Amino acid sequence: MARSLRVTIDNLPKVKLALQRNGYPSQKAFAADIGPSLSTVKNFLGGKPIDYENFREICDQLGLDWQAIAYTESPSALDAPPAALKASPFITGTPIHHPRHFFGRERQLKRCFTLLKHHPLQNMAIMGPRRSGKTSFLRYLETIPTTAPDQLRPHQKQNWLPRPDLYNWIFVDFQNARMSSQDKLLGYLLSALSLPVPDALDLDGFMDRVSGAVHQPTVILLDEIGVGLQRCPELDDAFWESLRSLATNQTAGNLAFVISAPETPMELAQHSGFSSPFFNIFGYSTTLAPWQQQDTLDLIASSPIPFTDADQAWICQQSGGWPFLAQILCSERLFALENDETGTAWQVEGLKQIEPYRYLLDQK
Ligand SMILES: Nc1ncnc2c1ncn2[C@@H]1O[C@H](COP(=O)(O)OP(=O)(O)O)[C@@H](O)[C@H]1O
Ligand SMILES: [Mg+2]
Repeated sequence: MARSLRVTIDNLPKVKLALQRNGYPSQKAFAADIGPSLSTVKNFLGGKPIDYENFREICDQLGLDWQAIAYTESPSALDAPPAALKASPFITGTPIHHPRHFFGRERQLKRCFTLLKHHPLQNMAIMGPRRSGKTSFLRYLETIPTTAPDQLRPHQKQNWLPRPDLYNWIFVDFQNARMSSQDKLLGYLLSALSLPVPDALDLDGFMDRVSGAVHQPTVILLDEIGVGLQRCPELDDAFWESLRSLATNQTAGNLAFVISAPETPMELAQHSGFSSPFFNIFGYSTTLAPWQQQDTLDLIASSPIPFTDADQAWICQQSGGWPFLAQILCSERLFALENDETGTAWQVEGLKQIEPYRYLLDQK
């Protein structure tokens, strides 16, 4: 049976606002536009369970992060793939969404959560080249504090925040074209803050609504902020200045930004011609480097079919500890084992697959 998901009660106002924000006058108009039946849309908006595919489709259409608003009906639902697909042990390409598949980065996580668990919340920047794991890291910050321990690997640290239930996490993906216009982005932020979204929204209107209205610890994750800077001229100095003032003055220390980019905030600002002090508010910045060897070995150990010591050593060496390269090589090894292939053809194939990402191995 296909599994079902429903919107958590506290997210229902946000979901209803999202409908308005996306310009749908009624539930009927929305259902007619996107496909699922009216009763499915009604159930979704009323917090009743609907099936997984429809849930994700509706969230995509409304620009909502489905994982952030879903109440899972079964313990493994967040992670469970649609219908009868088995979860893949190795993930190559898409960012890590379920915390169980995330390895390493312990020290950086500790630093980040220390800055987020004290008042005032503080801002941080996560840097690293393409495919170094930035999106996965941001997603992990967001999801690990509220993931039930029985959903994790044994000994995976979960209690990073004393009161994870108090936090509101808002994920902004600048690679998503929806986020490249100022009013869409501001509308998204307002609805994620559970504030009403007016028909016409400008920066002043946004600031009026948000100032003094953030009463719970709130973390805005701005993923690939450099893409936003490049793609959207509307996100100008005035826009960034407003965000800075929110974080520093208008939200009583309850708001922090976590940004990700290939370069430092100052470099980003210089390269994009910005002068806003927004780019000076990041007290902690860290660059994602290769894993410790133990992290690669932990990933390898998650294989359903064990790898020999020689294979493990080869993967550690050839991946240089980069999570993405290790995932690719593990996935090639597992495929060969599952298909009873002998010999070293999997290594040849693995090296071919990692070829386009060898730039990672040149990073310091
Ligand atoms: N902490 C991690 N644990 C396991 N795999 C990871 C981790 N970080 C990154 N990966 C792997 O690297 C790939 C790229 O990660 P991603 O977060 O999309 O990088 P970026 O956002 O920097 O481009 C993912 O598909 C996954 O295979
Ligand atoms: Mg990314």
